[in-house]
Amino acid sequence: MSAQQSSFASTIDSLRERVPEGLIHPKVGIVCGSGLSTLGSTLRDRVLVDYDTLPGFAKSTVAGHKSQLAFGYLGPEDKGVPVVAMLGRFHPYEGHTMASVVYPIRVMAKLGVTHIIITNAAGGLNPNLAVGTIVVIQDHIALPNLTGFNPLIGAQTDLSLPRFLPLSNAYSRPLRKLVFHAAHQLGLEKSALAEGTYAWVSGPTYETPAEGRFLRAAGGDVVGMSTIPEVLAAREMGVEVTVLSLVTNAVVIPDTYNSIREEVEAELAGKPLPAAVDAIVSHEEVLTIGKQKAEVMRQLVEKTVELIGSA
Ligand code: ADE
Repeated sequence: MSAQQSSFASTIDSLRERVPEGLIHPKVGIVCGSGLSTLGSTLRDRVLVDYDTLPGFAKSTVAGHKSQLAFGYLGPEDKGVPVVAMLGRFHPYEGHTMASVVYPIRVMAKLGVTHIIITNAAGGLNPNLAVGTIVVIQDHIALPNLTGFNPLIGAQTDLSLPRFLPLSNAYSRPLRKLVFHAAHQLGLEKSALAEGTYAWVSGPTYETPAEGRFLRAAGGDVVGMSTIPEVLAAREMGVEVTVLSLVTNAVVIPDTYNSIREEVEAELAGKPLPAAVDAIVSHEEVLTIGKQKAEVMRQLVEKTVELIGSA
């Protein structure tokens, strides 16, 4: 057995000791992004497992992110769907290796999940996306993947997995359909849910205005620092994936800068100064919007799980 395989085996042994038989093989995995972990509190027969008590797991270090796996049932009592939710995730910008970032996803797949719903907080690049909109991701642009930092780079330790993974079908059409059906059943307004492309950046810095313009011009609708490694690991293991991005801030992309020369000339001539373009995103803003919209995201995820259970 390779070192990696024995690590998975000890993680799963440790989970078996704590999670009852009915929940140890969940059908759906869920990843809860910044401020979106309230889902954990609505699981029935919930069992919480701290990441730092699990062999093989790293420890999340971002404020606003919890660090637990939550097992439980979602949906109506008579048709409850067993799920496992990650309350808190790992990001490469925390210094975790890509292998650590995707480790929980691989554990979920080994436990037998067939579907994973990934949520995240993201910046809106598309000016038509209001803050608070949930975007159902249909595609991605991953500059790190294109420039030598693909999370799947490495020796192939499991020969049963594809070496050259196609990504044209990364975002499951049937699952995206279920999300829209779920939104309809919940009576969400049409504008509450959009579709778009996720641009992945490594972080931890937010993008400059020029980088924002670049990502928008390349076709990105939202930008974020997570998710894509998880999508790749899940797809590598044959799991169906859907991604829901909550727009927590608008990335303001001025196509003209305030010219300092004009500003100084106006000052010298005693003329009024041009209005400053000034929009600085903060992690607090991201968390606040996340908290405000957590309930809608929770309902959408829960209804989608219910539909997966009855599909
Ligand atoms: N997450 C939330 N807002 C973001 C932004 N503007 N850029 C990258 N990641 C984000």
